[in-house]
Amino acid sequence: MTKAIEIKNLVKSFSGKRGSTLVLDDISLSIASGEFLTIVGASGCGKSTLLRIVAGLEIADHGAVLVGGQPINGPGVDRAMVFQDYSLFPWLTVKQNVLFSRRLAANSSDNLALERGAEEARAVKLISLVGLTAAQDAYPSQLSGGMRQRVAIARALMSKPSIILMDEPFGALDAQTREVMQDLVLGVVAQEGTTIVFVTHDVEEALYLGSRVVLMSPHPGRIDTIYEVPLPAERTVMMRVDPAFVALKREVMERIRATVGLSLDRSEQGTIGAEA
Ligand SMILES: Nc1ncnc2c1ncn2[C@@H]1O[C@H](COP(=O)(O)OP(=O)(O)OP(=O)(O)O)[C@@H](O)[C@H]1O
Ligand SMILES: [Mg+2]
Repeated sequence: MTKAIEIKNLVKSFSGKRGSTLVLDDISLSIASGEFLTIVGASGCGKSTLLRIVAGLEIADHGAVLVGGQPINGPGVDRAMVFQDYSLFPWLTVKQNVLFSRRLAANSSDNLALERGAEEARAVKLISLVGLTAAQDAYPSQLSGGMRQRVAIARALMSKPSIILMDEPFGALDAQTREVMQDLVLGVVAQEGTTIVFVTHDVEEALYLGSRVVLMSPHPGRIDTIYEVPLPAERTVMMRVDPAFVALKREVMERIRATVGLSLDRSEQGTIGAEA
C-alpha cells in the first residue's frame, strides 16, 4: 500500500518558566493511503501536539512529516482538520460554511480551480452525505451539537483533502449522537477514500473506527503499542459486543492505565523535564 503519511523521528518540546519539557520523543509512524488510524493515550501524552505537527500548525524540533512522499512545511489543502469545538462561522448558513473552506482552498497555490457551479454541487452533495439537506440554509445557532459537527465534517471534505486530521471531534457529544456520528464518518470516508488520523479519549471509539489503534504513553509522549483491530473493514454496531472486541478494549484500557504508572516511574528517574 502507498504511504499517505510518514512521520519520522519527531521530537518536540515546549519551553515554560521552569525550563523545557519534552512532549514528543522520537515518534515514527507510517499511515497507508485510505487508512483509518486512531490514536489514544492518557491526557497530556501529546496526541494533539502530534496531530498539530502533521497539520503543519506546529513545528517539530527534529524529524519530519512526509505527505505523499514530500516533507510538509506548513498547513496545506491536502490536510483538513476537524476539532472538538465546532469552529463554524456563526454568521454563515450551513451551506455557506461548507462552501467557505473551498474559497480558502481557491486562494491557495495548489488549487484545482473548480467552477463555481461544480463547487455548489459538491457542497450540496456533501451536505446530503452528512444528512443535513433539510438544514442547509440554517445557521449554526439553530443546530444541535451533532449537526454542527456534521457541518464541520462536510466542510473539511469540501477541498477534497487526501487526509483529514480529527482531534476528539465527538468529545462534546452525548453517547447516542456519538455512535451515529461514528457510523456517519465511516460511511463518508469509505465513499471519499480519505485517509483519517483520529484522536480520541474513548477506547471503544478508537477500536470501532480504526483499522489500527496507536497507544501513546505520556511524559514524554512516545508510541507505546500499535494494535491491529481484528474486525472486518465494514463495521457494524453489534461488533461492539463481539468478545474479541471487548477483550481488546479491556487490554487497551489496562495498558493506558499502565502507561500512566510508567510515566510516574520515568519522572522518578528524572527523565522528565519540568512541567511548563
Ligand atoms: N503551546 C504549548 N505550550 C506549552 N506546553 C504545551 C503547549 N501545547 C501543549 N503543551 C504541553 O504538551 C503536553 C501534551 O499536550 P497535548 O495537548 O498534545 O496532549 P493531549 O494528549 O492532546 O492531551 P488531552 O488528551 O488532554 O487533549 C502537555 O503537557 C501540555 O501541557
Ligand atoms: Mg488533546
